[in-house]
Amino acid sequence: MDPKVAKADKKHAKIHSEKRRKDNSERKTGNEIFDKITLETLYKLANQGHIDILNGAISTGKEANVLTGITDDEKFVAVKIYRIATSDFKKMDYYLKGDPRFNVKTKNKRKIIYSWVTKEFKNLTRLYAAGVNVPEPITSANNVLLIEFIGDEDGNPAQPVKNQPPENPDEFWNLLMVELKKFVNEAKLVHGDLSNYNILNLNEKPVIIDVSQSVVLDNPISKELLERDINTLVREYTKLGVETSFEEVWEYVNPKF
Ligand SMILES: Nc1ncnc2c1ncn2[C@@H]1O[C@H](COP(=O)(O)OP(=O)(O)O)[C@@H](O)[C@H]1O
Ligand SMILES: [Mg+2]
Repeated sequence: MDPKVAKADKKHAKIHSEKRRKDNSERKTGNEIFDKITLETLYKLANQGHIDILNGAISTGKEANVLTGITDDEKFVAVKIYRIATSDFKKMDYYLKGDPRFNVKTKNKRKIIYSWVTKEFKNLTRLYAAGVNVPEPITSANNVLLIEFIGDEDGNPAQPVKNQPPENPDEFWNLLMVELKKFVNEAKLVHGDLSNYNILNLNEKPVIIDVSQSVVLDNPISKELLERDINTLVREYTKLGVETSFEEVWEYVNPKF
């Protein structure tokens, strides 16, 4: 057999055997995310050298599952897989419509998800280039997004701030404000779902994730979304003991719509 084909075959077998292992041990994340398209997509990403092994679930969300992957050169990556069956197409459609970068006219659910994944990838690329602390995007294909793994060298993922509040909330808040300002003024995006669920605590530094719904400032809904994001943060960090207000944050970020 051609050695390349043999290697690809081996990877396919690995992904399949991982699936079997999961089916037995972690029924919750088992079959449903590994539909035929997802398997083919993972197989393609494996053949392109992006992932070698899928290594356990980090999170089972409403619409997506996040797993740890291991690359050929033994590095960890985060693999975010959108489930075609349970995605909220109305929401996706709403956010995609207002974005001048996307012209989605289709009613095809699979295509809407693919646009959604592309949107998350493009947003991450833009944020990363602007120097915002977000996972580095690696690649995306169909309903699968590969991004930098945020965690330690042993493959333990950094926890959302919701589960792991900062040791020093004031310091963490200041770092977060710097990220928020870059998010809006440099990347010219509004997150749209910013909360301590979507901020990871990586060694007491904030890493912002989950940017699929983030919108460009030109989007007519961006102002309202930024107001909501800031209100959420002010509420959450006031609870953690930070003294701040909506007006203070708004003035600091100083958005130009
Ligand atoms: N790059 C990453 N590195 C480590 N963990 C991650 C990464 N991205 C996401 N996670 C984990 O997966 C969870 C869900 O990811 P998220 O992008 O917020 O998707 P959802 O749409 O399900 O909220 C996060 O709360 C976090 O625990
Ligand atoms: Mg999230």
